[in-house]
Amino acid sequence: MYEAMARIICIAAPLAGAGKTTAAINLSAAFAVFEHQTLLVDCAPDNRCLLGTVIEPPAHAPGLARALQLQEDVARYCVPTRLEFLRVLPAGQGLDQAINDPAAAAEDRQWFSEMLCAQAREHDVIVLDTATALNGMLAQALCNADELLIAMRIDPPAVRHMDTGFASLRQLLEKAAGLRKSGKSELRVSGILLNCCDNAVEAEALLGPGTFDQIRHACLPVLIPEDQRLHEAYWLGKPAVCHDIAAPGAQAYLDLAALWGRAREKSKAEEKEVHP
Ligand SMILES: Nc1ncnc2c1ncn2[C@@H]1O[C@H](COP(=O)(O)OP(=O)(O)OP(=O)(O)O)[C@@H](O)[C@H]1O
Ligand SMILES: [Mg+2]
Repeated sequence: MYEAMARIICIAAPLAGAGKTTAAINLSAAFAVFEHQTLLVDCAPDNRCLLGTVIEPPAHAPGLARALQLQEDVARYCVPTRLEFLRVLPAGQGLDQAINDPAAAAEDRQWFSEMLCAQAREHDVIVLDTATALNGMLAQALCNADELLIAMRIDPPAVRHMDTGFASLRQLLEKAAGLRKSGKSELRVSGILLNCCDNAVEAEALLGPGTFDQIRHACLPVLIPEDQRLHEAYWLGKPAVCHDIAAPGAQAYLDLAALWGRAREKSKAEEKEVHP
């Protein structure tokens, strides 16, 4: 029988500081506005997702790191937010050590997959924020996700590092393709999310036409502008939709969530036809 499972979206980036966490927080909040039951899972050891979603975060939220260490159900580690449809599973402390301990690797991998599978039954969408390094945690996130959303910052400082950015982008895409080929994952690249950029014309002007042509076909139709309201989430504990829903950054994430919602409805209808 057809069983609706959450789609798991992994947010990754070829360069640090691209805006992954900002995207994870604000896209999750936009999903919640549309009443998709959303779980934001912080897989990045810097543990910033809680700060960006909860006004007075608990002083010691053990989160994913502790649940993983004890191989426990994550339900009691998830933190509610001011948005009824959004909960956060913080990274907690020591996630990098926990996931990179080779002695525990196989057990941890299995626990992580089972944890996400259990959560997928209770949510419509799960968003995974990751660290840029292709480390154990990112590999796990990629293995278990249905979709890969790649954040690329296109502003003058970031554009100076675009050679490295494109080399890392290739590595990330190869990793995703490798996982698919090996049958370990059904990961699909949903697209490149251009951040800190108003439109494709601006992106092309900054990158140069030859360079932009390499990624143009893969870019999502919604771009995220540079917006102070998005930047403020970490300090206010409020995603932009809660802080100032009319702000261009909030609107862009709502557009992206609406686009995703329409695509999801379409694919659910198709799945139901195949497995009624
Ligand atoms: N569209 C935007 N408008 C304004 N500020 C932004 C935007 N996107 C990101 N920022 C700011 O840029 C900085 C880096 O963003 P963020 O922490 O989301 O990147 P990241 O990819 O998660 O970084 P890391 O690689 O360290 O995990 C933050 O201060 C954030 O507030
Ligand atoms: Mg981050």
